Amino acid sequence: MQDVTIHRDFADLTWAAAALIVRLGAESLAERGVFRLALSGGSTPLPLYALLALPEWRARLDWARVQLYWADERCVPPDHAQSNYRMAYEALLLPLGVPMANIHRMQGELAPEMAAANYSAVLAAVRLDLILLGMGEDAHTASLFPETAALGETTRPCVANYVPKLEAWRLTLSAPYINTTRHKVFLVNGANKAAALKAVLQGAPDPQRYPAQLISAARWLVDAEAAAGLEQA
Ligand code: 6PG
Repeated sequence: MQDVTIHRDFADLTWAAAALIVRLGAESLAERGVFRLALSGGSTPLPLYALLALPEWRARLDWARVQLYWADERCVPPDHAQSNYRMAYEALLLPLGVPMANIHRMQGELAPEMAAANYSAVLAAVRLDLILLGMGEDAHTASLFPETAALGETTRPCVANYVPKLEAWRLTLSAPYINTTRHKVFLVNGANKAAALKAVLQGAPDPQRYPAQLISAARWLVDAEAAAGLEQA
């Protein structure tokens, strides 16, 4: 079952996401002494990262005990403008002073297959507590794009995925690995995502075309614009 919450606007969605992260983080720390959080790139989580870094929010979670991972990465060096690591580091991890030992990034600067193998080794004995996912207008999530090879991955946690329409390689967690995560949370906003959201949540199963359908039992935090096409029960 997918769990969908519709927020009146993007600011409200961002605030709800921050509250959910600190709540699930505190629960993980209380139960297991560690909180393993995987981040996504894209534009949607940027205001969330900025919010979490504000003094009144940072005090709500013991970030020194949070271990950070990524859902996907572009095949670029860590100081590149398109690096998902760089975006999260600058907006969230640097302002919060998260120790470098807690930061487990994908090595976008290496040959894609090697970087994916390295990250699969990092994740071999790791179960993530929470993964933040976005969704594109084409219903991709992480770097699981429609009709690409990574959609068929059944065993490895992380794979290199060539995306023809971007003419680029990406590194991505596989759907089976993402599905082992304790809490899967999608953040989706904007009218441009409405058609994809309806297809993913209420359309016929077709994960080759709508890869976000591969993620089971997720929480979806969506704004009213993105939710405009949904039939509500
Ligand atoms: C990335 C992502 C990707 C993203 C979606 C949505 O590296 O680009 O992790 O899966 O979440 O493309 O992107 P926006 O938030 O920019 O719409």
